Amino acid sequence: MSKEKVILAYSGGLDTSVAIQWLKEEKNVDVIALAIDVGQERQDLEVVRQKALGIGAVESIVKDVREEYVEEFIAKALKANALYENKYPLVSAMSRPIIVKHLVEEAHRHQAKYIAHGCTGKGNDQVRFEVGIAALDPDIEIMAPVREWDLHTREQEMEYAEARGIPVPTTKKSPYSIDDNLWGRAIECGVLEDPWVEPPADIYTLTADARGHQCDDPEYVELSFEQGIPVALNGEIMSFHEVINCMNELAGKHGFGRIDMIENRLIGVKSREIYEVPGALTLITAHKALEDLCLERDLLHYKLQIEQKWSELVYNGMWYSPLKEALDGFIESTQQLVTGDVRLRFFKGSCVTVGRRSPYSLYDYNLATYDESDSFDHKAAKGFIDLHGLPTKVWARQRRKVGKEGEV
Ligand code: ARG
Repeated sequence: MSKEKVILAYSGGLDTSVAIQWLKEEKNVDVIALAIDVGQERQDLEVVRQKALGIGAVESIVKDVREEYVEEFIAKALKANALYENKYPLVSAMSRPIIVKHLVEEAHRHQAKYIAHGCTGKGNDQVRFEVGIAALDPDIEIMAPVREWDLHTREQEMEYAEARGIPVPTTKKSPYSIDDNLWGRAIECGVLEDPWVEPPADIYTLTADARGHQCDDPEYVELSFEQGIPVALNGEIMSFHEVINCMNELAGKHGFGRIDMIENRLIGVKSREIYEVPGALTLITAHKALEDLCLERDLLHYKLQIEQKWSELVYNGMWYSPLKEALDGFIESTQQLVTGDVRLRFFKGSCVTVGRRSPYSLYDYNLATYDESDSFDHKAAKGFIDLHGLPTKVWARQRRKVGKEGEV
């Protein structure tokens, strides 16, 4: 009888390489490796594909999903100005749902009963994989070798690998755990686990040290948006994907986009995280600046709350959930008039909005100005304040009765 199949989310690293062999040995399954290109720093994915076959995968697939990632996933995050705990642009949390989508697609195509991932039991990513998979196909079963096996240290894993002829990294392993895609880069572990220790300079690859001399002059950039999505840079029409690449480079060169934070993981642990997100933070800054001009007050204020909830849901692995889907509908509706240009100035680690304009701007000069073209009805303010303050006035009269007056 032929064996059951498992689709393994494969990265080419030690964990998922050992997982191929482990799944075969311990679970007696045929392993199909799937590596997904979401714009991570270049490793040769053909080499990764071959490596899985060399270790014993029956099939090995590489998929470049970058366009889809930008259009269907990042676009939603930008429209939501998504920042978990008001800081983190959800780098890893964004890539997992698209990886999940392709894992499930491949599982169906190969009639595989199982999907496997290489996440540990301590992080958010296991949740994102498993809840995402359950949402897309509740009948698929999960295998999580790293959570199950007894290889507790890297040395034990290396021994296991060497004993079975699995290629092990020859260069000294970086002490950091890194996950990246075109929305940014996440760095954990090593000395970073002491929240008092300043991150060493060598962990950064996307952003320059703002104290250096790589860029001693300010640089101005004009970003154009249509319905919430970037469509041009300095007047040159570009795809959203190209804009992200350009902004990663330009903002990174000016040392903008580093985050050092303590973050609350879903499983209850606080962790110290470093992120490099030059493009993501720049685009969110610009997008917010345009919304300030184009969104009506109540809508803007309400959207701020929705943004926070959206980010929390996505961080917690609920990309494919009814609430997240409904909030997407709300956010999409807010973007109808978010069209226009934003001017940014980069200098020594900062990115500042210095101008914004839109054909749908709600900023009315004649209402805002204090000069003679003022069209605001100052006299109308009196009646407005009387009514706006009326409940407070009534309350203050009653409070007098308990002997409290003029106190807060
Ligand atoms: N803490 C971040 C998150 O949960 C980053 C996770 C990075 N993952 C990794 N395998 N290094 O979104």
